[in-house]
Amino acid sequence: MTILVIGKQGQLAQSLAALGRADVISAGRPEVDLTDAASIARALDKVRPKAVINAAAYTFVDKAESEAATSFAVNRDGPVELARACAARGILLVHISTDMVFDGRKASAYVPSDVPAPLGVYGQSKLEGERAVAEACPHHLVVRVSWVFSEFAHNFVRTMLTLAQSREEVTVVNDQTGHPTYCPDLAAGLLKMADIAARPGFAGWGTYHLAGTEATNRASMAEAIFAVSRALGGPAAQVKGVATSQYKTPAVRPLNARLDPDAALETFGIDMPDWRAGLERSVRVLLDEMAKAGG
Ligand SMILES: NC(=O)c1ccc[n+]([C@@H]2O[C@H](COP(=O)([O-])OP(=O)(O)OC[C@H]3O[C@@H](n4cnc5c(N)ncnc54)[C@H](OP(=O)(O)O)[C@@H]3O)[C@@H](O)[C@H]2O)c1
Repeated sequence: MTILVIGKQGQLAQSLAALGRADVISAGRPEVDLTDAASIARALDKVRPKAVINAAAYTFVDKAESEAATSFAVNRDGPVELARACAARGILLVHISTDMVFDGRKASAYVPSDVPAPLGVYGQSKLEGERAVAEACPHHLVVRVSWVFSEFAHNFVRTMLTLAQSREEVTVVNDQTGHPTYCPDLAAGLLKMADIAARPGFAGWGTYHLAGTEATNRASMAEAIFAVSRALGGPAAQVKGVATSQYKTPAVRPLNARLDPDAALETFGIDMPDWRAGLERSVRVLLDEMAKAGG
């Protein structure tokens, strides 16, 4: 079956493409712009996919606080147009959302039925997007993801390695916990979800969480990144752990970003490998890239 991925240069879109499936086609800006409904319709009519994975989003969490209009245009209004266009053509839609729809006050990992309460503009725009998608397209899977990293595009691993090239110490919050998720593992899981949802008689439409299965905090994740980098001869910095209350950012992030993926893993028979294997691959590739750029 043909799967159209919206987004081309982003971390998830690149991870989906890297899996190398011939029936997965991606289209991003300028060809497909979520703020341009006609470009969405054109792409669907050209590719005629059985499923669409929306990997495009406005992902600047801090900037969203001062760019609310763009955040809502890309994260809510664009997905609504996409969902309507998919529904009109009988295409199933896998729409990606975030842990940031929650306020992080829960003591354990969030399950899909927990009540969202976003702390900022980005989370609110994603929440309104997921609700609008669900309303506009009955055959939808909204998949919330969290703490995604890889060798592709911008993410926490790249940021830490880049900082360690010029600093001996980096300050990282040590009271935000999440489930690190290697993006190519996430991408493989999403393709499996789309494949299964496309089978006749599938009835599991709705919201799922897909994430790694082990919890850690940001400072420990940074230490794990530097441990791998050091072992491979790359840059490493000392991690100075601080409380979120001491580390001011424009957007407030949930202290608990842990997503419980059990429902997705069971329903779709997905196996999420240990994130540390993905971390080693990410660091290896990024160090290689840095060495080439430097030399
Ligand atoms: N990364 C994480 O840790 C994380 C955590 C929670 C949820 N998520 C969610 O996971 C999904 C994928 O995230 P990601 O990490 O792959 O993000 P990313 O690397 O920032 O990629 C986002 C992509 O969206 C595209 N985009 C932005 N505005 C667009 C528009 N108007 N029309 C079409 N494309 C547009 C960008 O295109 P250009 O290349 O043209 O700028 C970019 O390629 C998003 O829904 C995000 O909210 C990610």
